[in-house]
Amino acid sequence: MLRAITAAAAVFIAGAGIAFAAGDAEHPHDHPFSFDSPVGAYDMGAVQRGYQVYQQVCANCHGMDHLAYRHLGERGAPFALYMVRNEETAELEPHVGKPAHGGQFVDVTENAYVRAIAAGVTVTDVDPNSGQPVDRPGRISDRFRSPFPNEIAARASNGGAYPPDLSVITAARHGGADYIYALLTGYTGASEGTLYENPYFPGRMIAMPPPLIEGAVPYADPETPQTVEQYSADVTHFLQWASDPHMEERKKLGIVVLAFLIVLSGLLYLSYKQIWRNESH
Ligand code: HEC
Repeated sequence: MLRAITAAAAVFIAGAGIAFAAGDAEHPHDHPFSFDSPVGAYDMGAVQRGYQVYQQVCANCHGMDHLAYRHLGERGAPFALYMVRNEETAELEPHVGKPAHGGQFVDVTENAYVRAIAAGVTVTDVDPNSGQPVDRPGRISDRFRSPFPNEIAARASNGGAYPPDLSVITAARHGGADYIYALLTGYTGASEGTLYENPYFPGRMIAMPPPLIEGAVPYADPETPQTVEQYSADVTHFLQWASDPHMEERKKLGIVVLAFLIVLSGLLYLSYKQIWRNESH
């Protein structure tokens, strides 16, 4: 028996050695995100900053084709607008992101912030008269602008590698948000031609140059550090929201369903006791 176990262990260790030799990726650490637990919610400040990082850095190479600018201003989204009554002046004041309590949701078509975000992007459209491509400011109904017209152009600009669409990337990669965070913070600094060493990427050599540099994205809030770690956590938070925008409602519904099932079980037990009270079994 002991011999069998030793033999199995030896095979396992040898197998692990071979896998490591083949350049298998390192397992990402568990990063503490606010949305991790079964009742956890998004930190909307982080999602807002993460959009800024995506827009200023990642959007130069990656599209997010499933998202339109109006999605940023829908209920529960990072730039949703609410009118909140100021307790001192009794005036209604605009508040971006869900307020702690109260607040009247403003429809996204009336949301000046999201309109400004869309208008800040230049979109290539077709001129209705000439049929020629023309540039115009973005509208809230536009999908996120893709940096390249097609995959061939994207590969041609990236040494043959394709920067994948990031709309649902945290759902599409094993390890989810932890993997994205580990990848963005995991560059070793070594490179070989146009490939950069990153132990978290399968194969360990990635064609994406380290995208984040300390201080590159200016945050409005002076309290938030402008480090690679903070940018990475924020942009990952945004990408997680994009992959799963209805997580919070789903978790709340889950809790209601659980409470209902517990009450139902209690009632069923009591009625079972009542029905069988005079029977011996
Ligand atoms: C200069 C262009 C460029 C920029 C800027 C850039 N990327 Fe990339 N990215 C790439 C390329 C190219 C790949 C494909 C790499 C490969 O297949 O080796 C890639 C791949 C990825 C992947 C997929 C890795 C995998 O597991 O397949 C993720 C996630 C990613 N990038 C996130 C980001 C984020 C987040 C940002 C912004 C902070 C960003 N990228 C900025 C070019 C870029």
